[in-house]
Amino acid sequence: MSGREQWGTRAGFVLAAIGSAVGLGNIWRFPYVAYENGGGAFFLPYLFALLTAGIPLLIMEFTIGHKNRGSAPLSYARLNKKTEWIGWWQVAISFVISTYYAVIIAWAIAYTYFAVNQRWGEDTGGFLMGEYLQRVDIVSGGAPGDLGSLVPGVFIPLILVWVIALGVLFKGVKRGIEVANRIFIPLLVVMFLLIVIRAVTLEGAALGLDAFFRPNWDEIMSPEVWVAAYGQIFFSLSIGFAIMVTYSSYLPKKADINNNAFITGFSNSSFELLAGIGVFAALGFMASASGVEVADVASAGIGLAFVVFPEIINTFPGFNGFFGVLFFGSLVLAGLTSLISIVETFVAGIQDKFNISRVKAVAFGGGLSALISLLFATQGGLFFLDAADYFVNQFGIALAGLVSVIIVAWFLRKLPELQDHANSVSDFRTGLWWKVCLGVITPIVLGYMFIQNTITNLTSNYEDYPTSFLLLSGWGVAIAVIVVGFIFAAVKWQKNALEMPKDKN
Ligand code: PHE
Ligand code: NA
Repeated sequence: MSGREQWGTRAGFVLAAIGSAVGLGNIWRFPYVAYENGGGAFFLPYLFALLTAGIPLLIMEFTIGHKNRGSAPLSYARLNKKTEWIGWWQVAISFVISTYYAVIIAWAIAYTYFAVNQRWGEDTGGFLMGEYLQRVDIVSGGAPGDLGSLVPGVFIPLILVWVIALGVLFKGVKRGIEVANRIFIPLLVVMFLLIVIRAVTLEGAALGLDAFFRPNWDEIMSPEVWVAAYGQIFFSLSIGFAIMVTYSSYLPKKADINNNAFITGFSNSSFELLAGIGVFAALGFMASASGVEVADVASAGIGLAFVVFPEIINTFPGFNGFFGVLFFGSLVLAGLTSLISIVETFVAGIQDKFNISRVKAVAFGGGLSALISLLFATQGGLFFLDAADYFVNQFGIALAGLVSVIIVAWFLRKLPELQDHANSVSDFRTGLWWKVCLGVITPIVLGYMFIQNTITNLTSNYEDYPTSFLLLSGWGVAIAVIVVGFIFAAVKWQKNALEMPKDKN
């Protein structure tokens, strides 16, 4: 073993962690989730979830990776031999997400291309989503469960996505991941700020902002709102799916864990707030221009970014191609840095376990994910994507986060040891609150969430999809990732692999 790779600089690590956190979740997910769950009132459960679960868990994952200096499976195995499967479970969740996350980036590339070419307007919204949805439903008479044939408008950009992501990963942590984030993140911030500034200065922007921030206090007592806040925080901060453990395993011995966790957490939330402002200002503009209520244009959910937004930008008073490029280009950059982080989890995992080179690990692991992602670039792929996304979030990320917290806090009783480790390298120390959040508050809230979700999904079919379809692409996927976790954990490690490497810093 020639020693583990390392980040070149502190800023490099922080940018990469922010790059992973800031993703499609910030731009297209946060604005409509906040809006649908109480608007201004959503910020209360959201902040609560950030401070009691998000940042404490981020500190825990940073510490586990930093202390044990391994991919998630190796780090969990070093924590205790019996918990290696948690690492693999989280890696398997990442693998599933990578297969469809890449497809969403591919859509964004296609839209950026339309904007450049001014093929922008009626056919934009209709083009892609239409090929996806209408063909399946109407032309082929298909239903959820049929794949249909490949959609070229998605297939070609999808290849590009994988060439970039795997190209960066081939180059390694310092020369690949760090360099990519140093370029992409500042560029993303500038591009996104430009479009937000444009949006808030449009006529009618205030209407949209009012709709977004107006607190609906009645909603705040409903459990769904709290579930939504926790779900958003977990997905958005990339916790519970092996990413932050992996990235922090490349930190040098001297690295400020607590500070870095706060910087990452608050940067990610700032970006969400910014996205909420930009998106709703633009919605307000569109609503007032076409004389409808903001609520009518805002109810598009997932379709917001890819169906409503092209229309909005198209009606901008001037430079709409340019702003189209800014918006969809932002999605591409935010998505790529997240995709890179998620693929790195399984690249690092198989590299550690099977003692193979990075290049081989990228080729096998990344290659397999790329191949599977082609399934989602088909006419019926959108349904699979939707179901897998929902189940992997509910019975993957949130559940894996719950299980890891309970096992680390209550079975292994490792919180004091981890806290000492983090405090010994950090500028400021965390106190009792950290242990209370992780040991008590988070397990209670997540446990409640899990029970509620299970009941809901057992008594009704998500989106009314057919049961056989959900068994395969929903429940099947959620169970398969756990089974995969146990299988990989059962494979024997090479001699001495679990011992800590001895190196200089
Ligand atoms: N944090 C990401 C986001 O907000 C989620 C994510 C990270 C998804 C990495 C995939 C890979 O979009
Ligand atoms: Na995020």
